[in-house]
Amino acid sequence: MATPFAVFVFRRGKRPPVRGLAPDQGLAPRRAARYHCAMSQTESLFVTRLYRAALSEHGPAIDPAELESSCYAIADDDEAGQEWCEQEGYPGYTSYASLTDLPWRFPIFADLKAALDLHVAAFAEELAFDLGEGKLELEDLWINILPEGGTHGSHIHPHSVISGTTYVAMPDGASALKLEDPRSGRLMAAPPRQKNASRDQQTFVYATPKVGDVLLWESWLRHEVPMNMSEDDRISVSFNYKWV
Ligand SMILES: [Fe+2]
Repeated sequence: MATPFAVFVFRRGKRPPVRGLAPDQGLAPRRAARYHCAMSQTESLFVTRLYRAALSEHGPAIDPAELESSCYAIADDDEAGQEWCEQEGYPGYTSYASLTDLPWRFPIFADLKAALDLHVAAFAEELAFDLGEGKLELEDLWINILPEGGTHGSHIHPHSVISGTTYVAMPDGASALKLEDPRSGRLMAAPPRQKNASRDQQTFVYATPKVGDVLLWESWLRHEVPMNMSEDDRISVSFNYKWV
């Protein structure tokens, strides 16, 4: 049986529409609920995809221990990279600014590239990219060795299409990857999300990869590496793919 209020609403006709709003928008939730019927539907639009797979699913098998020792050997030899990290205050080591040809110098990185090419092609398919006559091609690939207490602040990867990381050493306490809702800059007066909101409705999402996993995302997706709380190094190899 309708409440007196509902009868009142019914008899007095529709609430005056607000320009640009559906009739039930702008009402308190309990009042809005009275307008809903069992046929309401909600779609998810403009979905942001995060790809996760074992590196071994595609391409040549890569031994994580060998990849780890290669990362350390390269870091030890790369004086230009060490100097850059020192100057820039980068915690630990990255080859990002010093070595641009790892897959050509080291066979294990050539194998890694071969595997990543296949993962990126699979992800591009999932994203329904129409690449025309072009293809996605590796643009950069670099090592990150993040010691205890090291962080990597929030950033995007400009000029690329697909970015990602494969995980070489993830000791207990090593930070997850933190991803941010790409619409954050447009939230304006939106209320925060409930703490128990579903993962696809959270403003920040944490992805916790295992050694040997590869994560891929579109390069515009803002992300960061929170503080490494492990005493041991968190080691990863990151990369960008461009459309050529
Ligand atoms: Fe990144």
